Amino acid sequence: MTTQFTVNGLVKKYGDNVVVDNLDLPIEDGEFLVLLGPSGCGKTTTLRCLAGLETPQGGEITFKGQKMFDAAANVDVPAHKRNIGMVFQSYALWPHMTVRRNIGYPLKVRKMRSEMRDGSVETAAAMVDCEGLLDRFPSQLSGGQQQRVAVARGLVAKPDLVLFDEPLSNLDARLRDQVRSQIHRLHQQLGFTAVFVTHDQSEAFALGDRVAIMKSGKIEQYEAPEAVFENPVSEYVAAFIGMSNRIELRRGPHGWETAAGDQVDLSRAVVRGVPDRADAAIGRLRPDDVSLHASASEVPAGNVALHAELVDYEYGGRYYDVTVRSGADKLILRAPAVEHSATLKKSQTGDPMVVSFSPSALRVFAPDVDGAVDSVSSGAGGHA
Ligand SMILES: Nc1ncnc2c1ncn2[C@@H]1O[C@H](COP(=O)(O)OP(=O)(O)OP(=O)(O)O)[C@@H](O)[C@H]1O
Ligand SMILES: [Mg+2]
Repeated sequence: MTTQFTVNGLVKKYGDNVVVDNLDLPIEDGEFLVLLGPSGCGKTTTLRCLAGLETPQGGEITFKGQKMFDAAANVDVPAHKRNIGMVFQSYALWPHMTVRRNIGYPLKVRKMRSEMRDGSVETAAAMVDCEGLLDRFPSQLSGGQQQRVAVARGLVAKPDLVLFDEPLSNLDARLRDQVRSQIHRLHQQLGFTAVFVTHDQSEAFALGDRVAIMKSGKIEQYEAPEAVFENPVSEYVAAFIGMSNRIELRRGPHGWETAAGDQVDLSRAVVRGVPDRADAAIGRLRPDDVSLHASASEVPAGNVALHAELVDYEYGGRYYDVTVRSGADKLILRAPAVEHSATLKKSQTGDPMVVSFSPSALRVFAPDVDGAVDSVSSGAGGHA
């Protein structure tokens, strides 16, 4: 595969507010790229710049060797000449047009007259199982059907690049899974190139060939989902992809320890960007990687054990979501119901507990200096 779509040094400001900050984004032909980041980090603005709906102040955008935008050379190809398909969060179907005319709209705008007659609209509708709905109006469709029609409209003109801006976030959980699978299948089948914006990590991992994590108008990490999931490059990324447990570490007389004084052997942890002589660091862990024990004697050999007390637990079916406090750190873990139901039901807030984890599950970072982590932790969107 070759890099067919490039964004170099893109800058977009509103007044003094730099929203896209010297952003580079190479996209390969046929690639499904997911832009993942918290609210306000500049995802939609980046998409709108790609589409030609915003004029950036700096940088270049090239599609298949053709300059779409070049601030220095004063090139700015208008939106309708960029051969792009768009699918947005609100379906934005024309209410006064039938499904057939909605799907056919991009063909009409581009004056693709033969495609308007050769069954392209019917084919696109069939791809998303909407061939039976062609003569209905949008108000006569369910939310999921409307969004599928919007997907068909985004793909009908066989665009070079399809831009998706949180297309699933208005759907309920079941429909979201359905339409997500459909988009995934269509991409496998048709091989279009896509940029898909979301703030939902599970959506990003499910769909992306590569995932670009955005932070304040820049890309913080840009890799395959597996690489991002296993080896986040910073505490910011770790927090955003579900490593919601944060453990403050300091160097004590016998090595690294928690604020509560439990020893943490970092020799098997993945440590990133922590200077050799640092005396403070932050550990990040997924709830799934933490186990609950009645006493320290039950902790498996080699695991790090933390002394904690129970804060709360919630029933989640096969497991309990348990919150404990260890010193100043609040940890969330998933305890299998079969094993822990009886003990938890007898327990009260404040009861002593022991939790443990394998040090290989721990990711250790230098503390995030600009405090951006706090704003993402709440947006982490469930367990991955
Ligand atoms: N037309 C505009 N004028 C001024 N500021 C804007 C404009 N559009 C966006 N912004 C600001 O730019 C920043 C990035 O906005 P953007 O819509 O790109 O974020 P986002 O990552 O898509 O967020 P969300 O997940 O909430 O959709 C925000 O601070 C927003 O307030
Ligand atoms: Mg947005």
